[in-house]
Amino acid sequence: MALVGSGSAVPAASVSNEALSARVDTNDDWIRTRTGIAARRIAGPDEGLTALASRAAQACLDHAGWSADQLDLIVLATSSPDDLFGTAPRIQAAIGARHAVAFDLTAACSGFLFALITAGQYLAGGSMTRALVIGADQLSRWLDWDDRRTCVLFGDGAAAVAVEACPAAESGLLGFRMRSDGSRNACLTLAQTDHHQPLLEGVSAQRGGFAPLQMNGQEVYKFAVREVPQILAELLDATGTHAEALDWLLLHQANQRILDAVADRFAVPHERVLSNLAHYGNTSAATIPLMLDEAVRDGRVQSGHLLASSGFGAGLSWGAALLRWSGPRG
Ligand code: ACO
Repeated sequence: MALVGSGSAVPAASVSNEALSARVDTNDDWIRTRTGIAARRIAGPDEGLTALASRAAQACLDHAGWSADQLDLIVLATSSPDDLFGTAPRIQAAIGARHAVAFDLTAACSGFLFALITAGQYLAGGSMTRALVIGADQLSRWLDWDDRRTCVLFGDGAAAVAVEACPAAESGLLGFRMRSDGSRNACLTLAQTDHHQPLLEGVSAQRGGFAPLQMNGQEVYKFAVREVPQILAELLDATGTHAEALDWLLLHQANQRILDAVADRFAVPHERVLSNLAHYGNTSAATIPLMLDEAVRDGRVQSGHLLASSGFGAGLSWGAALLRWSGPRG
């Protein structure tokens, strides 16, 4: 598949570290030095995930020069849907992609990369030609705003990439790796609460609802700095790629210290590590396409550039892909 367009959308409201410290016991210096985050966008009550993701999808279609009815597939990576039965069909309707099949995929911060790889299989199989892969999350819904260990880290956003079937020799997906380790699931959860409702004599059912996001930050940090270099090294090795050949490292934007540690492991100069988490924090499934779209639009990422990308997060899950950006065709 060829990567031929990108688009993104973020909520208007930006909340700085200083502003947040009026709500919870934290401060700008702690957040910046531990994470690199300076501000995050927060979606208001009337800005649902469907609206945000649909704006990103439309911007992506415009960039690729496609009309919505040319789409065969929409995959939405999200952990914060508007509807647990699926939010992708709402996006399909909002943008008018009447021929596309649309479904959600959940793999937390690895979700976008997993969705991109999934879409790539349909396109490579020959049954579909054009797909939109969207990463969108609104974790502000699921944070405990009194828990300073988690609420300072996350923000809301949405972004999409347009991918098109092409001859294998021209593919922009040069290789990939995907991993899960559910035995470490408890490190980072947004789990169903344990509330029961009595129905009949001797019969009760669970009541739907989720507890706020919970994270063991140090365990997740150790996981990321161990597994991300490892999976990237495997991928580079398998594809016969030297780190010097990479134009960009495009990593999940969780923490600047994680980005720096991965770059140092491969001796990639920090100028070639894409980073925008200062402005948006961790937008979960949206970070990778949000960063890509910004760098495509400001001209840093150009047609033919080689990017090593890695997503990692809850599950635990992690993955990597070696990508070549094409950009809009003719
Ligand atoms: N403001 C001020 N102080 C704070 C804050 C805060 N926001 N949060 C924690 N502290 C305090 C703690 O209470 C602790 O104080 P104490 O020593 O008096 O008890 C101290 O700071 C150190 O806390 P640690 O948790 O040890 O801080 P650490 O250096 O580990 O940094 C952090 C925490 C930034 C969360 C780090 O562990 C990290 O980045 N982990 C990875 C997180 C991540 O990437 N998660 C997302 C994965 S993606 C996904 O799928 C959603």
